[in-house]
Amino acid sequence: MSKQTLSTAELESLALEIRLSNKYKDLDLPLETIRDLILQELPHYRQIKDVQQVVKKKLHNIVALYLGDPDYPTAQQEIRNAFANGEDSVRESCLSLLSVHASTRERLPILADFYQRLWSICGVPTSILDLACGLHPFGLPWMQLPPDCLYTAYDLHHPRVDLLNTFFQLSCRPAQAIYQDILVSPPQTTADVAFFFKEAHRFEQRQHGCNRAFWLALPVQTLLVSLPTTSLTGRHDKAKQHRKLVYETLEGLDWPVTEIEFENELVFYIRKTA
Ligand SMILES: C[S@@+](CC[C@H](N)C(=O)[O-])C[C@H]1O[C@@H](n2cnc3c(N)ncnc32)[C@H](O)[C@@H]1O
Repeated sequence: MSKQTLSTAELESLALEIRLSNKYKDLDLPLETIRDLILQELPHYRQIKDVQQVVKKKLHNIVALYLGDPDYPTAQQEIRNAFANGEDSVRESCLSLLSVHASTRERLPILADFYQRLWSICGVPTSILDLACGLHPFGLPWMQLPPDCLYTAYDLHHPRVDLLNTFFQLSCRPAQAIYQDILVSPPQTTADVAFFFKEAHRFEQRQHGCNRAFWLALPVQTLLVSLPTTSLTGRHDKAKQHRKLVYETLEGLDWPVTEIEFENELVFYIRKTA
């Protein structure tokens, strides 16, 4: 029996239906993400309803709502109030936002030390891409970057990107958040360093082996890739599995790697050589 094919109109209609489903309608996910997932899965299924089901399962993992979200309209107002009330208030508001999402919450106990150690090894960057950034840019007050450091953050969750842009504008920094699926459309902006924190394992689940082409495509000399060393519950050690992911991705590439280990996060400092 032949596998499913879709006309352009059918593809568009299915992508829109998924995008407007109850779970995702407020996030305004990029249509290119959903199209990409449908096209990846289409050859493997006979029934459209099976394609739809597997795409939704993949989206669940990509968007990872279970990791936590603030209420965005409230957060927009709180961040504006914080800037009106001064620096301490801004730090307080950033800490509160960082604590809402599991990836940044786990980093709170090591926040100041985290960036100091990274800079002591790779130098203080003058431009940064923060890829699949989530709420991580709210750590900026602890990064001790020069005020003219260009900071470009990418995410596909629209309310998150809008909140980050409010924060960046009020911070008066040369920073912006871009709403983009970085796997389908890798960033073209060059920078000293790209952060790709706690997302490479999800990229593998989205499309096995995709990290290699993605890392190759990034217009940076230095990659800081991090992965958690335990599962979300803290019950399972993930260090071995995540080291394997990174070294398999880099197989055959002559890119030096230095590991920087923190309590619950392992950073791979990767120098891309030609
Ligand atoms: C685990 S969370 C954030 C991790 C964050 N880098 C940190 O370490 O705190 C992953 C984020 O990546 C975003 N994301 C996932 N896939 C993406 C893609 N292909 N393009 C852009 N953003 C993506 C999600 O919307 C989510 O905000």
